[in-house]
Order: sequence, then structure tokens, then C-alpha cells
Amino acid sequence: AAWEKQVRLSSTPRRTNGFSVLVTGAAGFVGSHCSLALKKRGDGVLGLDNFNNYYDPSLKRARQKLLSKHQVFIVEGDLNDGPLLTKLFDVVPFTHVLHLAAQAGVRYAMQNPQSYISSNIAGFVNLLEVAKAANPQPSIVWASSSSVYGLNTENPFSERDRTDQPASLYAATKKAGEEIAHTYNHIYGLSLTGLRFFTVYGPWGRPDMAYFFFTKDILQGKSIDIYKTHDQKEVARDFTYIDDVVKGCLGALDTAEKSTGSGGKKKGAAQLRVYNLGNTSPVPVGRLVSILEGLLSTKAKKHVITMPRNGDVPFTHANVTLAFRDFGYKPTTDLSTGLRKFVKWYISYYGIQSKTRKGSQATGESG
Ligand code: NAD
Ligand code: UGA
Repeated sequence: AAWEKQVRLSSTPRRTNGFSVLVTGAAGFVGSHCSLALKKRGDGVLGLDNFNNYYDPSLKRARQKLLSKHQVFIVEGDLNDGPLLTKLFDVVPFTHVLHLAAQAGVRYAMQNPQSYISSNIAGFVNLLEVAKAANPQPSIVWASSSSVYGLNTENPFSERDRTDQPASLYAATKKAGEEIAHTYNHIYGLSLTGLRFFTVYGPWGRPDMAYFFFTKDILQGKSIDIYKTHDQKEVARDFTYIDDVVKGCLGALDTAEKSTGSGGKKKGAAQLRVYNLGNTSPVPVGRLVSILEGLLSTKAKKHVITMPRNGDVPFTHANVTLAFRDFGYKPTTDLSTGLRKFVKWYISYYGIQSKTRKGSQATGESG
């Protein structure tokens, strides 16, 4: 009963016509930021997360602590727990689901392929089954990935480009998610909006991502590996700052159509939509490293590897015309500005004094 009270309290909106949003992966990087932003504008938010140990779970607990200060409650549970999900939808008439829980990371798929199938495919289907049976049916916005473009050579990537050449099992499961979403939209009239995020970074980020462990390794004087493409070019990513992605997620929720409970053949059925959420400005990994060197005022020990990492794509680059047209998405943070905010958070979170203050003076940046 105390649990139910917490669930209700957390998910009740505080503004007129506010949403009740179930945020899956709320203890994760993107999920924690989105949960806070929704709560701050008066929406009701309930989190769900299994707190798995793919990366340091204490970071997930710290995000949970931050969220609880803002009255966001995270239910500890798995996407594959049908009875738990059904119970949540029995207690709360969710208007929206922001589905961000997944097994992320491109390389780990070679170590633990089943975790991708379990969370990104089985878990997603389980969530859709429960959402389809819920009354009201929620509108669903979920995280796809730039990795679905795989070896696509169009530059920049548009939503209509081919996505039939995934370079990793992670990408294949994200692509499968898009196909699965289509069927649930078509048969059950669920409103589904997929967001293809492009290498998102920022404060409270993911320790398994390059910008994060490069920072750690540079500060500790350890060498870092920099991979090349097959033709010895630099790998580039359309690194996207978390605040821009959060705005995109909220914009997608705001413009999501209502689920209709009727199949795609019927008139007025909800659409399945897919959008790129990138920065529109790819940066070579070498440049990422030199920005970090400046911010940390420490030279990196670089170890250049003359081949690509398994599962890597040579570049990513988003065309965001569609997201701009439909919900005004416009990324505003360049990589130097965003990394400065990340480094500032990193230093305060891990309590390292080091040379960074000197570093921000040296680069003329005030932080
Ligand atoms: P994250 O790993 O920090 O967050 C995901 C959260 O989901 C974690 O807290 C994890 O504990 C939870 N989770 C995983 N499997 C679960 C399950 N079966 N049941 C319940 N909870 C589960 O990752 P993130 O960077 O915040 O990514 C959020 C979403 O965006 C993911 O779907 C990811 O694939 C996608 N994405 C991220 C990026 C990026 O660069 N960060 C880029 C493209 C797509
Ligand atoms: C990131 C996320 O990790 C995925 O979860 C997400 O789905 C994906 O973005 C996406 O946009 O879809 P990735 O871009 O591979 O994947 O992110 P990192 O692992 O942080 O790698 C970034 C770049 O650094 C890549 O170009 C990679 O080749 C390079 N890198 C990485 C190195 O040069 N050395 C390393 O040791 C690690």
C-alpha cells in the first residue's frame, strides 16, 4: 500500500493537462535527465529500471537519489516482468511511455549477445503487450539508435536511408525494435515514435562510452586507443549533447498522437514515426581527444590502432529536418561546450582536483 501510494504520487501531474509518463531506464543516463525535465515542468513521472551492472550500478543509484529529491520514484524491476508492468498500468493511467531501457553499447554485444535480445527485443515486446492491453492506451516514444544506419554511405543520414546493413548485434536489435513497433502500430493502433539518438554525451553520462573513459584514462595517465576506418581515415561521430536530446524527447512526447486502439487499416489510426536526434555536425575522434586534452590540461597517451573496432561504423551524421519540422528540434550545443560541462560534472562527481582549473584558464574558458 505504501508502494502504491508512492507510485501514484510520483506519476500524478502537477500542471493542467499534464502527462503521466512511465519512463523506462529512468536510472540510466538519458532516462534520468528526461525524468527530471518532465517532473520540473509539472508532468507526473514514474521510473522503471532493473539497475543491472552493465556499468557501475552505484552511478545509477546516485541518479536515483537525485531523482528522489525531485519526487520521482523509480520502481526496481525488469521490462520482462509482465505481471509487474500490468500492475503499474492498473495503478496508473499512463498517458505516455518514454521507453529508454535497453542494453546499450556496441561492443558488449560480442560478450553478451543474449542481454540485447532479452532487453531490446523480448523486453520491448513485453512492454508493448502490456501497453496495448492498457486502458487508456498510452502513446509511446522510444529510443532507437543512429546505429540502425549501419554501413549506410549517404551523408548526412536521413530517416528514409537504408537500414538493412547493421554493423553490430546491438544495431540489429534496435532495427528489430523499429520493425516490431510497426506491427504494434499496424495491428493495435498504438501510437509509436522512435528516436534515433546519435552518440549522446554529457553530465551523468555512461562510463562505457569513449568520451567518459577517455577522460578517466587521460586523468590517470593511462594510454587510450584510437581506432581508424578500414581505409585509414579518422572515425567520426555526430556527438549530441544530452540537453538537446532531452528537448527532442519532450518535443516528441508533446507531439505524439493518441493511440487509437484500432489497427492501421482503419481511418484515423495513429502513425508510426521515426526521427533522427543528432547534432548535425560530425567530429573526428581525434578532435574529441584534443578538446579533452585542453579541458584537462593533460596530454593523452594516444595509441592509434590502424583498423576499426568490431561493430563500429566509420561515421555518423544526422539530418534533423524532420524533427525540426514536427517539433522544432534544433541542437544548440557544440562539442567543446558540452564536453566542458561534462568535465566539470566529472570532476565534481569523482572529487578530483587535478589540473582542471588551470586547464579552463589555459583554454580561456570559465566553465
Ligand atoms: P543507460 O544504459 O544509461 O540506460 C538504460 C537503463 O535501462 C539502465 O539504467 C539499465 O539499468 C536499464 N535497463 C536495461 N535493461 C533493462 C531491463 N530489461 N529492464 C529494466 N531496465 C533495464 O543508457 P542510455 O545511454 O541512457 O540510453 C538510453 C536509450 O537510448 C537506450 O535505449 C539506448 O540504446 C539508446 N541510445 C543511447 C545512445 C547514447 O549515446 N547514449 C545513443 C543511441 C541510442
Ligand atoms: C554510442 C552508444 O554507446 C550506443 O549505445 C549508441 O546506440 C550509439 O552511440 C548510437 O549513436 O547509436 P558509439 O558511437 O560507438 O555508440 O560510442 P562510443 O563507444 O563512445 O565510441 C565513440 C567513438 O569513439 C567511436 O567512433 C569509436 O570508434 C571511438 N573509440 C571508442 C575509440 O577510438 N577508442 C575506444 O577505445 C573506444
